[in-house]
Amino acid sequence: MKILVTGGAGFIGSAVVRLAVQRGHAVVNVDALTYAACLDNVASVADSPLYAFEQADIRDRAALDAVFDRHQPDVVMHLAAESHVDRSIDGPGDFVETNITGTYNMLEAARAYWTRRGKPDAFRFHHISTDEVFGSLPADPTVKFTEDTPYDPRSPYSASKAASDHLVRAWHETYGLPVVLTNCSNNYGPFHFPEKLIPVIILNALAGKPLPIYGNGANIRDWLFVEDHADALLLAVEKGAVGRSYNIGGENERTNLELVKTLCAILDRKLPKASGSYADQITFVADRPGHDARYAIDPSRIRAELGWAPSVTVEEGLERTVDWYLANEAWWRPLQARAGVGVRLGVKA
Ligand SMILES: NC(=O)c1ccc[n+]([C@@H]2O[C@H](COP(=O)([O-])OP(=O)(O)OC[C@H]3O[C@@H](n4cnc5c(N)ncnc54)[C@H](O)[C@@H]3O)[C@@H](O)[C@H]2O)c1
Repeated sequence: MKILVTGGAGFIGSAVVRLAVQRGHAVVNVDALTYAACLDNVASVADSPLYAFEQADIRDRAALDAVFDRHQPDVVMHLAAESHVDRSIDGPGDFVETNITGTYNMLEAARAYWTRRGKPDAFRFHHISTDEVFGSLPADPTVKFTEDTPYDPRSPYSASKAASDHLVRAWHETYGLPVVLTNCSNNYGPFHFPEKLIPVIILNALAGKPLPIYGNGANIRDWLFVEDHADALLLAVEKGAVGRSYNIGGENERTNLELVKTLCAILDRKLPKASGSYADQITFVADRPGHDARYAIDPSRIRAELGWAPSVTVEEGLERTVDWYLANEAWWRPLQARAGVGVRLGVKA
């Protein structure tokens, strides 16, 4: 199968690219190479005859038409997005342009290409989205996001992703485009850009810097190892029912404070400080405006209908993640110099 992956130089997209090539699929990686991209993420497959890279911006419709014509993909996996909630608070315009208009361009380029090819049934437009479109859950652990949870996005990021999900469903209902959607919980793992919580905590701990926790640290997230997400995504694009959406999550709810303490305990074991614990560096900072209290995914549908299950526990996944950051300073060090990294963003509101 030839897969056109957008955003394949980012965190999750690159995990999809690596796994797809490893499984023998041809991949065309379409990425604009924004501040969040790093081609080293796909260095392990860059020399494969199955891999091709196209630097293109999803805001540029003509560029997308040319890519479809040149590569003739069987399916599309659309991950390219602006993805950092804090940046969306300071600069929502980029999120509207890339996540909404960019998805519109992708849908129109895909629809034109699919129509030119005689509307093959096997074509798929797989839209990769987030659980953040469902808003914020109460503390009650029996209440989780299902595919039927009403949309209630609360940040510019999640609102732009929600809008893109609606466009994708509309292109299916109106034009018959064979789409599949997935909404996933928070990912973590290797190649996570060093502005997101888990890499920030690991790298600040190593540098002896404060470990910033927004608010009181009670916000709950549901964590999934990125390679398990990539596996679920390939399953969804290959076997997912047309027009259907699937929630993906690891059923690993942790408060941010619990998560940070777990990371500190792993580091204390692997690289003990001369005295004390990395947890001594924990510092509570101003909360994110509109900070969602809790996310939790009910992944019953993808488990029952597609047979997906995560391969690692969160403890194993975090351990592997810490090991990866300890071994890959050459990857993360240069990224820390990029604009906005290491700076507190999203507090203007
Ligand atoms: N990170 C998470 O925990 C998570 C969870 C669920 C869903 N998602 C979704 O998964 C997708 C990937 O997330 P990520 O964390 O890997 O993001 P990321 O920020 O690490 O990577 C995004 C990639 O998209 C590219 N990109 C951005 N704007 C572009 C444009 N205009 N044209 C072409 N390429 C562009 C960037 O260069 C980058 O390589 C996003 O759609 C996100 O909403 C993320």
